[in-house]
This record gives sequence, C-alpha cells and structure tokens, in this order.
Amino acid sequence: MAGAVVEVDGESSTAAEAVSPSHDRAPDGPRTVVVTGGGTGIGRAIAGRFAAAGDDVVIVGRRREVLASAAAELTAAHGRAVAPVVCDLADPDDVETVLGRLPHRIDVLVNNAGSREAAAGPGPHAVLARWRGDFERNVLTAVLLTESVRDRLTPERGRVITVTSLAALRGGGSYGASKAALHAWNHSLAAQLGPQGVTCNIVAPGTVAGTEFFGSRLNEAELTRRAGRTLVGRVGRPADVAAAVVFLASPEAGFVTGEILQCNGGELLGR
Ligand SMILES: NC(=O)c1ccc[n+]([C@@H]2O[C@H](COP(=O)([O-])OP(=O)(O)OC[C@H]3O[C@@H](n4cnc5c(N)ncnc54)[C@H](OP(=O)(O)O)[C@@H]3O)[C@@H](O)[C@H]2O)c1
Repeated sequence: MAGAVVEVDGESSTAAEAVSPSHDRAPDGPRTVVVTGGGTGIGRAIAGRFAAAGDDVVIVGRRREVLASAAAELTAAHGRAVAPVVCDLADPDDVETVLGRLPHRIDVLVNNAGSREAAAGPGPHAVLARWRGDFERNVLTAVLLTESVRDRLTPERGRVITVTSLAALRGGGSYGASKAALHAWNHSLAAQLGPQGVTCNIVAPGTVAGTEFFGSRLNEAELTRRAGRTLVGRVGRPADVAAAVVFLASPEAGFVTGEILQCNGGELLGR
C-alpha cells in the first residue's frame, strides 16, 4: 500500500501522504507540543500524531513508568524523541516545580488530562468529595498549567486545545459540570490570547473506547448500547479525537477560536 498513488481532492498523492494530511506538518518547521495525559488513551494518540508529524512532543502525567514506556514507544515508532514529564497537574506545588522542565516556547498545548471522581453516595461529605474531586481532576489540571505557561505560547502560531466531554453539553453531574466550566474558561482565554494570534479551542468527545477512562465499566453490552446512540453506529477511537486536535493545531485553523468541536459520531447534534 505504501507509495500507491491515490486521488486526494483531484490531485495525485501517495497513500502515505493521504493518511498524513498537509496540516500535520507545520510549514515553519517542527512545533513544540505539550500533551497532558499523554501516557495513555486519547492523549497518547494525540502525542503520536504530533510525533509522526516531526514535532517535538512532551507528555505529562503522574505515573512515571506509564509515561516512560509511552515516551519510549512513541520515540521508537516515530524516530522523534518524545519527552516524559511527571507532574500532578492538580497540585500547584507540583506544577510550579515542573515549569523549569517544560519548554520555554510552546506552540501547541493540549490539555487532555482528566478523569472522573469515583466518590459516590449521598450526604454533604460525599457530595463535596465528588464535586471537589471532579473539579480538581478536570478544571485544575487544565487551568493551573495553562495559566502558568501562557506567556510561553508562540505569538501568531500558538494553540491551546482542551479536551472536555459530551457530558459538558448534556448533563453528567459533577463530571459534566467540571468539563462545562472549561468551556466558559476557554472562551475568556480565547479573548485574552486572540490579539496575540493564539487560538484556544475545545474538543468535546463522546464515548471513546481503548482508554483507561472507564476501567471495567465499558463492557461489550455497554459498548453496544453506546454505539447505538451515535449516528455512525460505533463508539469513538482515540485516533478520532487526535484527528480533531491535529486540525485545530494546524496553521489552517488560525481563524477558529473560542470554539467547541464535538467529536461524538452524531450522538449530540452540534449547536
Ligand atoms: N474515554 C472517553 O470516553 C472520554 C469521553 C469524553 C472525554 N474524555 C476525556 O478525554 C481525556 C482523556 O481521557 P482518556 O479517555 O484517554 O482516559 P485515560 O486513558 O484515563 O487518560 C487520562 C490521562 O490523564 C492523566 N491524568 C489524570 N489526572 C492527572 C493529573 N492530575 N495530572 C497529570 N495527569 C493526569 C492520566 O495519567 P496519570 O494517571 O498517570 O496521571 C492519563 O494518562 C480526559 O480529559 C477525559 O475526561 C474521555
């Protein structure tokens, strides 16, 4: 298949070029890309796309071994060194400590780290644990880092892309509420950074299989049920979300900012 000539928009191209569209490779040379939660799932797929495009990628997460093995595998796969940085992004002390290990110039910041708080049950203490947990896991992990490195974003080329969720648009309790908070924050950020030519956008995925997010909750029956809620008859893959992120990071997307790009197979219609 490699090297086969195919038609793309009426122009001849090799198959390799067809799967690696022009916006993958930045015209001004390699970009410096930071992907939070880049050791697993969606974040790892995002990191892989940028590494494949020849960019310099840093992945951030809490588990040293997970990050180290993801970085080693991505480096081997793409021939471009992917650097792991260990940090609990919900902890301001930890964020402050790692600032010196993050690039001084950042072209693309992908706020992908996040998870769902497991605390359950009634009563104010359980409610507090659930809401505070989701806020820390999803809001602080994006906001603490972004606000700390915003001056490092490259003027006229910088991109901030934050991964939220379908839950932010149609409920989802404390998890959905925490992701929805990022939508309001992103709009302010886009207004603040827009004059410098830095865009700030959201990708809001529906169900994505093949990640650690659901643990054992996403069994075959649940997958089938969720696939049935989409218009395309399947749940998402990490690569689907990575493709949306790559588009928003591209030079061609410079006129798109403050936007929410839904990536959910039509499960919720755009608005
Ligand atoms: N899978 C889905 O169906 C789905 C749908 C909608 C939205 N999302 C969102 O997509 C994003 C990626 O999720 P995923 O599905 O790929 O799940 P995942 O495999 O669990 O990925 C989450 C990543 O975030 C990192 N992380 C979590 N908390 C962190 C913290 N405090 N500091 C640093 N890193 C942290 C985790 O690494 P460590 O544990 O090592 O820190 C992990 O690599 C999340 O924001 C999630 O809310 C997922």
